[in-house]
Amino acid sequence: MENLFDEYRNFLKDTIRQRIDFRHTDQSKGIAPPPVEKPYAADSYRIDLVTKDNWHNVASQDLVSVIQNRRSYRNFKADPLTLEDLSFLLWATQGITKIRDETAAFRTVPSAGCRHALETYLCILNVAGLETGIYRYLPIEHQLLLVSKNKHLSDDIVTATFYQSFIGKAPVTFIWTAIPYRMEWRYHLAAHKVIAIDAGHVCQNLYLASAAIGGGTCAVAAYHQEMMDQLLGVDGTDEFAIYLAAVGKI
Ligand SMILES: Cc1cc2nc3c(=O)[nH]c(=O)nc-3n(C[C@H](O)[C@H](O)[C@H](O)COP(=O)(O)O)c2cc1C
Repeated sequence: MENLFDEYRNFLKDTIRQRIDFRHTDQSKGIAPPPVEKPYAADSYRIDLVTKDNWHNVASQDLVSVIQNRRSYRNFKADPLTLEDLSFLLWATQGITKIRDETAAFRTVPSAGCRHALETYLCILNVAGLETGIYRYLPIEHQLLLVSKNKHLSDDIVTATFYQSFIGKAPVTFIWTAIPYRMEWRYHLAAHKVIAIDAGHVCQNLYLASAAIGGGTCAVAAYHQEMMDQLLGVDGTDEFAIYLAAVGKI
């Protein structure tokens, strides 16, 4: 057990970088980078999100107050979120602000080496106009992709979060997966810590953006790994869930 504590503490350090020969990363070897966004089938069902120029109800609140009042919220109103609300939250957390080239795109959040190794899935239980189901954000297209419909989604997400019942009542739960190779391509074994750091930035933006639409968020790191990956339909090896956050109006 002692050794395990050392091992896990070491994960938080950057000593690994001294052991990596960066001449041998896939990037240095000239291997093409993985795509900026997870590919999808051409015949997938996709929904256009509301673009930034067409937001009318995204209240512009004073940033100082939003930061001062930030808290975790677990009790949400029964009100649905609108597609505009959701469009803003997705843009604030993973939206692309500038495509640099086919290897990288800048987003509303920072990421080590601009690798952005996260994908955003949504467990949608109560968004006006959308069927209950698991969806994935397509940041390049600013669209939602339907991953699966599920009539028992509320129960399933509660079970997959070790019975945190408030998540089954949240209109939307963001579930971030990592595609580690996107970061490993550049940073080899130094990739994993920075993926976790990146996820923190994303969730903090969700906290602040939720406040700006009269909503609230609660970060969730306690979940059943295999159940969650299965719910999302990801393989658990090259892509797996790493962090969640429930959102609703408060
Ligand atoms: C990394 C992380 C993981 C968390 N996991 C959970 C969780 O699984 N369930 C939960 O109810 N709250 C979770 N929270 C919320 C914390 O309990 C909350 O941030 C903390 O109690 C402080 O309250 P505040 O956010 O209102 O300041 C998590 C927060 C963070 C940052």
